[in-house]
Amino acid sequence: MMKTRRYSPLDHLIMNVDQALRTLAGKPLVTGRPNPATGEQEAELSDAEKAESARLMRINHAGEVAAQGLYQGQALTARLDKVRARMERAAEEENDHLEWCESRVRELGGHLSYLNPLWYLGSFAIGAAAGAIGDKWSLGFVVETEKQVISHLDSHLERIPGKDRKSRVILEQMKIDEAQHGAAAKKAGGADLPEPVRRLMKLTSKVMTATAYRI
Ligand SMILES: [Fe+2]
Ligand SMILES: [Fe+2]
Repeated sequence: MMKTRRYSPLDHLIMNVDQALRTLAGKPLVTGRPNPATGEQEAELSDAEKAESARLMRINHAGEVAAQGLYQGQALTARLDKVRARMERAAEEENDHLEWCESRVRELGGHLSYLNPLWYLGSFAIGAAAGAIGDKWSLGFVVETEKQVISHLDSHLERIPGKDRKSRVILEQMKIDEAQHGAAAKKAGGADLPEPVRRLMKLTSKVMTATAYRI
């Protein structure tokens, strides 16, 4: 498997550019799990309900773009190979989320965030910095990110129309996956982040969600 091969910094750079383009151009490497929305009936939604669901799913898509940036940035600088492998697996699952959210946005007649390249690059830089500080902080960052994502998903589950089952089952599966990513990072030695860092992360995601709601 790929895990046993040692890559040079140039290999890593090329792989990162490849990943970035896949994320932004919509051809991510996924795990092959079925889209949870496939088995659900399309509900009768009013135009306003459709537009609202599309906006919320666009935020979730943008969040997954950011998650890709974070994971790829961390994978670049993480020191322990074990940590790197673990994050690459989680990143693949985030790609499932990316794909599911994108297809739901399209079904609802919406568009993806025009600022996706910005979300990716900003998160990549943050992830690379976290990875460089040290694995326990980098893993702690994953723990905290996933915790915040889960409470964000809960708030969306309250806002999305109850009859929009297709969107809801995607968010519910994402919640399960994010909880697993967080638990795995914690188990691997993730440290508790200082309160100011957590607050800064919340603020950043607030700006991002408010912006992606519109553009
Ligand atoms: Fe995700
Ligand atoms: Fe996750």
